[in-house]
Amino acid sequence: MRARITATGSYLPEKILTNFDLEKMVDTSDEWIRQRTGIEIRHIAEDEPTSELAAKAALDILKNSSLSASDVELIIVATVTPDQPLPATALFVQERIGAYNAFAFDINAACSGFIYALSIANAYILSGFVKNAIVIGAETLSKITDWTDRSTCVIFGDGAAGVLLEATDGDRGILSMVLHSDGRYTDLMRVPAPGSRIPCSKEAIENRDIYIKMKGNETFKMAIRSIASVSKEALDIAGMDFKDVDWMICHQANKRIIDGVARRVGLDEDKAIITIDRHANTAAASIPLAMDWALKTGKIKEGDIVLLNSFGASLTWSASVVRW
Ligand code: ACO
Repeated sequence: MRARITATGSYLPEKILTNFDLEKMVDTSDEWIRQRTGIEIRHIAEDEPTSELAAKAALDILKNSSLSASDVELIIVATVTPDQPLPATALFVQERIGAYNAFAFDINAACSGFIYALSIANAYILSGFVKNAIVIGAETLSKITDWTDRSTCVIFGDGAAGVLLEATDGDRGILSMVLHSDGRYTDLMRVPAPGSRIPCSKEAIENRDIYIKMKGNETFKMAIRSIASVSKEALDIAGMDFKDVDWMICHQANKRIIDGVARRVGLDEDKAIITIDRHANTAAASIPLAMDWALKTGKIKEGDIVLLNSFGASLTWSASVVRW
C-alpha cells in the first residue's frame, strides 16, 4: 500500500506587492531583487488570517477530488504564522470547510513544513490509522515581516496550498521521505517574540523582536549543499538517480538556490518548477503552490517522477520522491 496525492488546491490573496512598490518603502531596487532572488511580485493577505487562506486552498482541493468534507479523516496545517497561539489553525480550517469527522493539528518546520506534514500523513496512511488526509502549507508571512528591513522584506509572500493524500494499492504515490533538522543553527533565522522566552511586551515590539530576523547569506550557503544531499538520500531509498527525475519542486526561497541545486546534481534547469517570480518565498506554502501550478498548467503527468525538496529555518531540510 502507498499514499498517493489524488488532488491539489491553492489560494493566493488578491493584493499584489511589486518590486516597484517596495522601492518606495525601503532602499532597494527592482533590479537588485530580480537579480539576487528571482522575485518580481508577491501576494499579501490584508484582512484574511492564515486559516482563511488555508480553508480556501482546502475547498479547492476538495473541488478537485471525489471526496466531500465529511469524508476527510485528518487535516494538517504546516505554518509558522498561525492565526493565534491556540487553538491550532487547522481547527479553524476544519470548522470553515465543515470536515467534522476529521482530527486536525498544526506543525511548524518553517519552509520544510509541507514535506514534514506530508511525512506525518504518509505514515498515518501506511499504518492504517487513516485512509486520507488533507495536508496544507499556509502562511501570512507579511504579518511577521519587518517592512523597514530591506534584507528580509523583499523576499516573503503570503499564500496557501495543499494536497489530498489517499491510501492506494497501486505503485503510484510517495516512494520515499527523508527529514533532517539541526538545532545548532537556531540563530540563523528566527522570530524571537512573543513566546515563553520573550513574552509579549512593549519592549519586544520596540526592539522589533516580533519580526523575522535572518542571516540570509549564511543560510544561502548551506541551502544548496543540504538540498542536494537530502535529495540524493531520498532518491537512493527509492532506488533512483537524478536522471530518473522528471520534475523537481524545490522550496521557492531564491531562484539562485534552485538553479544552484540543479547545477550541483546535474539536473536540466528546465525540470525545476519555478514560481518564486510571482509567489516569492511563502515558507510552508511554497512547495504545494508550485505543485498545484505545475499540475494545473499540465506540466506534471501521470507516472512522472517528482522530487520534492526543501530547506528552512533553522535548520530543517527534507526531500521526498513521488511517482505521480
Ligand atoms: N536591496 C538592495 N540591496 C540589498 C538588499 C535589498 N533588498 N538586501 C541586502 N542588500 C545589500 C546588502 O546590504 C549588501 O550590501 P553591502 O555589500 O554593501 O554590504 C549586499 O546587498 C549583499 O547582501 P547579502 O545579504 O550578501 O545578499 P545575498 O546575495 O546573500 O542575498 C538573500 C540576500 C536574498 C536574503 C539571500 O541571502 C538568500 O536568499 N538567502 C537564503 C534565504 C533562505 O533560504 N532562508 C531559509 C528559508 S526561509 C524560511 O525558513 C521561512
